[in-house]
Amino acid sequence: MIRDGVSVSIVLAAAFVASIGIVFIFGCFSHKKGIESFYVNSEDEIKIPVVELITTPARTHIGEAGDVLSTEFSSKFNSTELLTKRENNKLEHVLASSRAAILKAASIKNKSIIFRNNALLSRQIYRNPYAFYRSYVEMERRFKVYVYEEGESPLVHDGPCKDIYTSEGRFIHEMEQGNNGFRTRNPEAAHVYFMPFSVTWMVKYLYHPNTHNVIPLKEFASDYVRIISRKHPFWNKTQGADHFMLSCHDWGPVTSQGNAFLYNTSIRVLCNANSSEGFNPKKDVSLPEIYLYGGEVPSKLLHPPPFNSSRPHLAFFAGGVHGPIRPILLQHWKGRDSDIRIYERLPETLDYYYFMLQSRFCLCPSGYEVASPRIVEAIYAECIPVILSEHYVLPFSDVLRWEAFSIQVDVSKIARLKEILLAVSQAEYLRLKEGLRAVRRHFVLNKPAQRFDVFHMILHSVWLRRLDLRVW
Ligand SMILES: *[C@@H]1O[C@H](CO)[C@@H](O)[C@H](O)[C@H]1NC(C)=O
Ligand SMILES: *[C@@H]1O[C@H](CO)[C@@H](O)[C@H](O)[C@H]1NC(C)=O
Ligand SMILES: *[C@@H]1O[C@H](CO)[C@@H](O)[C@H](O)[C@H]1NC(C)=O
Ligand SMILES: *[C@@H]1O[C@H](CO)[C@@H](O)[C@H](O)[C@H]1NC(C)=O
Ligand SMILES: *[C@@H]1O[C@H](CO)[C@@H](O)[C@H](O)[C@H]1NC(C)=O
Ligand SMILES: *[C@@H]1O[C@H](CO)[C@@H](O)[C@H](O)[C@H]1NC(C)=O
Repeated sequence: MIRDGVSVSIVLAAAFVASIGIVFIFGCFSHKKGIESFYVNSEDEIKIPVVELITTPARTHIGEAGDVLSTEFSSKFNSTELLTKRENNKLEHVLASSRAAILKAASIKNKSIIFRNNALLSRQIYRNPYAFYRSYVEMERRFKVYVYEEGESPLVHDGPCKDIYTSEGRFIHEMEQGNNGFRTRNPEAAHVYFMPFSVTWMVKYLYHPNTHNVIPLKEFASDYVRIISRKHPFWNKTQGADHFMLSCHDWGPVTSQGNAFLYNTSIRVLCNANSSEGFNPKKDVSLPEIYLYGGEVPSKLLHPPPFNSSRPHLAFFAGGVHGPIRPILLQHWKGRDSDIRIYERLPETLDYYYFMLQSRFCLCPSGYEVASPRIVEAIYAECIPVILSEHYVLPFSDVLRWEAFSIQVDVSKIARLKEILLAVSQAEYLRLKEGLRAVRRHFVLNKPAQRFDVFHMILHSVWLRRLDLRVW
């Protein structure tokens, strides 16, 4: 069934929003000094220590590339094959050389060398620090993103910059307005195409509360793809495989169902990264959920207690009984043990962040959806995150070793939680805490964005998936 009128829901949405007024439109950058304060990319470049790629005779095969990325990725990096199939395409040629450089870095056996030259990276938290660094620098040098201009704010070109879906708006704004050097206005020069619509704002403006009717959201996504694919040649060339959308809202995945290729082929950057609900780690990207009340990191979390100060509580959780896992947690531990501080609702006299800062482990069970803002809060608080979830693909797990800074406890073992946490030795605990310190910068939102921060890590995840793309 083809509906007449290209952009029915987009036009309707715009009219609907206009009738509400523009009071809701608050950009992420509205209260800051201005775009001119953004750093200049070239200055930053100078600070990058140059990594010598040493081709040692030890490099005999490329099997170690698997260390760079999660195992699903490893077999895909065959630059010889990719290069021949794409030799007419200059862009693909450039990507092939990046791919080759990353592979080469990944296969270097003597990894002690890079750390003499590069104090930037902490060895333990990466699957393969060599490959990650190489890939990151290749991204900085080459990666170009075209941002579609179609659509009206706020549903497109805007998004929430505070509260639970902060990562959505902040990414859209940084991508569109940041002086980060990745955006190109020339779509022919782009490696990927960004569709900057906000699912959170769709829910706010198009969804009728309590109806559970997500059709307007799907229609919006469907119309958006239809518009850009008629107007520009890029979508049809790859059926959307080099296109990406981003959403932190729980309904990001269901919205993407509005177009079969958006769902099955495009890169979807989602907080709701539930692998048993169609999230595909080979092509989709897990987006960290970062809860910024009022748009800022709570000041208490900016200054965690001194590294070696003792923390009186073993474990902490406070939150509603949402989803499949929390009822199990609360049933076993709420009010049961003074070392495991579990609250359904924290009494007003107690402070949430105080508990995070005074606990050794912060429990991060999934709620209605797999992601929890507690994970990033725990990283900030230097409280070891205990991941209690099923089918959750953790953010940046293609390059980060989550086991270096968090603990995963199987849901079936929740009854033995205390035993499991007490079994973590002091040395192991300190190792995890050091890991948290090292990984923190990858989960921080900066205005403007800074190297290795969460904006860059998200983009790097997209970059890795684009490198793996087959467009023939
Ligand atoms: C990559 O592809 C080429 C051409 O198909 C093949 O000859 C080569 O063995 C492949 N290399 C690896 C490591 O799979
Ligand atoms: C790695 O390189 C360093 C510095 O060149 C050298 O001292 C060390 O012996 C090498 N290690 C191995 C296992 O080759
Ligand atoms: C892309 O394909 C769609 C559906 O087949 C078609 O309607 C559209 O005109 C095509 N776009 C371009 C730019 O040719
Ligand atoms: C994705 O592809 C599968 C297999 O072809 C198909 O059954 C499914 O309907 C597609 N999903 C969407 C949302 O279109
Ligand atoms: C913490 O204590 C350990 C063991 O006492 C010590 O080795 C380490 O240097 C201390 N770390 C910091 C950051 O003070
Ligand atoms: C993840 O998806 C599965 C399958 O749909 C579902 O049963 C489960 O509840 C989801 N997990 C969360 C936390 O939403």
